[in-house]
Amino acid sequence: MENMKAVRVHNYGGPEVLRFENAPRPIPGSGELLVRVHAAAVNPVDWKIRAGHMKEIFPYTLPLIPGWDVSGVVEVAGPDVKQFKKGDEVYARPDLARNGGYAEYVVVRETETALKPRSIDHVHAAAIPIVASTAWQALFDRASLAKGQRILIHGAAGGVGSFAVQLAKWKGAHVIGTASTRNQAFLRELGVDEAIDYEKARFDDVVKGVDVVFDTIGGDTRARSWKVLKKGGILVSIVGPPPSADEAAKLGVRTAFFSAQPNASQLAEIAALVDSGKIKPFVETVLPLSEARRAHELTESGHARGKIVLQVA
Ligand SMILES: NC(=O)c1ccc[n+]([C@@H]2O[C@H](COP(=O)([O-])OP(=O)(O)OC[C@H]3O[C@@H](n4cnc5c(N)ncnc54)[C@H](OP(=O)(O)O)[C@@H]3O)[C@@H](O)[C@H]2O)c1
Repeated sequence: MENMKAVRVHNYGGPEVLRFENAPRPIPGSGELLVRVHAAAVNPVDWKIRAGHMKEIFPYTLPLIPGWDVSGVVEVAGPDVKQFKKGDEVYARPDLARNGGYAEYVVVRETETALKPRSIDHVHAAAIPIVASTAWQALFDRASLAKGQRILIHGAAGGVGSFAVQLAKWKGAHVIGTASTRNQAFLRELGVDEAIDYEKARFDDVVKGVDVVFDTIGGDTRARSWKVLKKGGILVSIVGPPPSADEAAKLGVRTAFFSAQPNASQLAEIAALVDSGKIKPFVETVLPLSEARRAHELTESGHARGKIVLQVA
């Protein structure tokens, strides 16, 4: 069996449980690709899984390789693979229930993979799959956001929020975004119509009658969000616990909560939008794979601007 370098979790715990070491190189099965990883992005779910917060949902057999956002080159196309061949440059959103891409190689399903955007490098391509598809599924699949509607996006400077702002603007919506003082100029760069500094103002004092709230923060931020919706509006959340459907019904609004799923055709549409210059990833920090611990400390702070990416090749 061939080996590769990887970062693995042998026991749940703090960033120190991440071990940079040798691991067996995986072998692709039917409908799967072995991808030589060039870059893997870091998402908040990575540290939540590392800490053991999600072990009821994903009962992993340890050791586990985290990292469910990858960009790289197809090394081997397994049996029955139809759309890809050795040498294709791809990006993918591997299944959270399986090993991820903090490694020299990862096995991904064809159904989780698309050709990477041609106009950007692997570091920037890796920064896209989870956050862009989450924003896409929230805005278009759940909220059916339409041209001319008004949307409030919480955490607009984060990984998911920064794509949500760009996708909502592409759709022709009026976008209001919240972030801290440090990120106000960044919100303008992303293209928001109105930027709210949550350190200086309460958004519920200044926003009224929106069609959609996209909640990437939860807690008190979500609790104060109901009243800024217009009747019939929708609050879409991606942070647990799920919003109360009873509360929504009492206020005459709707709510949705979901876990984003891998979707190859959405990744292909997103790649086309990137290549046509409509949307782009923002990478704040690039670290070598051996510094995954540092990357986890950064994501766990909850104040990332854009993305943190591990460079592998
Ligand atoms: N359900 C799903 O399928 C799904 C998918 C992806 C992500 N998620 C979850 O969604 C959350 C966000 O993910 P992410 O990747 O976007 O995280 P991220 O890149 O770490 O961004 C978090 C952002 O939140 C902002 N923030 C913190 N407190 C805020 C507040 N009170 N009001 C407004 N903004 C605030 C931060 O900006 P400042 O520094 O300016 O505060 C930061 O930019 C995470 O909890 C993640 O696990 C869920």
